[in-house]
Amino acid sequence: QLKDYDVSPKTGFLPETLPVARLPAYYDIWENTVNVLPALLLTKRIRSVIDKFECLDLSHLQSEEQYRRAYSVLGFLAHAYIWGVDTPTNKLPKQIADPWVEVSEKLRIPPIATYAGLCLWNWKEILPFDEATLNDDDSFLDNLQTINTYTGSIDESWFYLVSVYFEYRCAPCIKLGLDAIQYARDNNVAKVTECLKQLAESIDYLGSVLMKMEEMCDPHVFYFRLRPYLAGWKNMSSAGLPDGVYYGDETEPRILSGGSNAQSSSIQTLDLILNVDHNATGESEENKGSDNPFMAEMRKYMPGKHSDFLEHLAKVNVIRDFVMKNKSKHNELVLAYDASVAMLKSFRDKHIRIVTRYIVIQSRKENNMGSDNLQKNTLRAGLAGSNQSKDNVLRGTGGTALLPFLKQCRDETGNTAAGNW
Ligand code: HEM
Ligand code: ALA
Repeated sequence: QLKDYDVSPKTGFLPETLPVARLPAYYDIWENTVNVLPALLLTKRIRSVIDKFECLDLSHLQSEEQYRRAYSVLGFLAHAYIWGVDTPTNKLPKQIADPWVEVSEKLRIPPIATYAGLCLWNWKEILPFDEATLNDDDSFLDNLQTINTYTGSIDESWFYLVSVYFEYRCAPCIKLGLDAIQYARDNNVAKVTECLKQLAESIDYLGSVLMKMEEMCDPHVFYFRLRPYLAGWKNMSSAGLPDGVYYGDETEPRILSGGSNAQSSSIQTLDLILNVDHNATGESEENKGSDNPFMAEMRKYMPGKHSDFLEHLAKVNVIRDFVMKNKSKHNELVLAYDASVAMLKSFRDKHIRIVTRYIVIQSRKENNMGSDNLQKNTLRAGLAGSNQSKDNVLRGTGGTALLPFLKQCRDETGNTAAGNW
């Protein structure tokens, strides 16, 4: 049952009903603070404000939806606390750390800013959605706004909302994939072929969704103003916290990757449906050959039920075997499968272009700027130079070595094509 995994045939990994946008009144101190976060960051007051918070407990949360909201709010507050004043701190105070840890255990997702907290659970409607709007795919994006941001910029909102829309448009792919698996089990070649053809078209559209990023998210704003807040405390040592962060009274620091779209369950679903295998290599230079591949690691940063879904899907998927088995007799089936694979590869090509514009080119500007300029162009907080790690390798917020990793993901996709074998 899809709904046991919190997956919807209509909205995929997004919740089917609107995320809770405000917690019960007991939590006003959190809500009131997160709602003025951009101003508190601009004036560098966030840490002193949070230091005065009293400790709240979670007993006033009444539903899973409210737990999600609490997780999202605490994520914004915590990353603002860590990165939002001149020097990053590696100590997160109890009043934020304790409820954050508790709520993340409940949702089975780590206490760090994740794709779920920033995107999946951080959107609301502009005007009330009516049934017509929800059934009209294109107007879904036009009626979205974010609940919270660090910067208050439309660029940041757009960065999250394009991802929300991406998830929404990926929902039909989940259904097509599951149908195709069922038809393959029934040995129905024509139906599997039909599903795969439609899947190719849907994945093709996802590439266009990705490219919408450029409409409203400016690469300079993304890189210099937003991205420093998305950083985690793993593999981004020059961001200032090579040894992780102490949560409340804990005696061991936690070392966790920052928010990254690599934590989207949708793309991993497509990989599983098409049996694209991501080997252990390429995650980052030092990880090469290890048995801890980044893509598998990222499943731990998804809501627990979503990663359960992926685990289940991995067990039941038979599509590629079915295509290979029927390869010699059914050319159309192979063409439809290979078209889907080609579209996923093309999505990854487009993504590499985006990453080049939004990170690689921006980082060159950063390297060429004198420190004065850098100060002006980065956040007012002391985040200058935070994007490059000590070993001088440019890293993603997830901690990968960016282009080598992404190119490997793309090539692994291309190599899956049945026609190659
Ligand atoms: C991975 C950057 C938008 C999907 C990554 C990584 C980076 C990155 C640096 C490597 C992992 C890491 O270390 O964090 C960006 C930038 C974007 C953007 C700069 C826009 C400005 C998106 C969007 C999606 C997406 C909208 C769609 C949901 C993915 C996926 C991965 C990934 C699935 C894992 C690698 C793969 O499966 O090929 N991204 N990303 N990204 N990103 Fe993006
Ligand atoms: N993962 C994206 C980055 O590295 C957000 O900037």
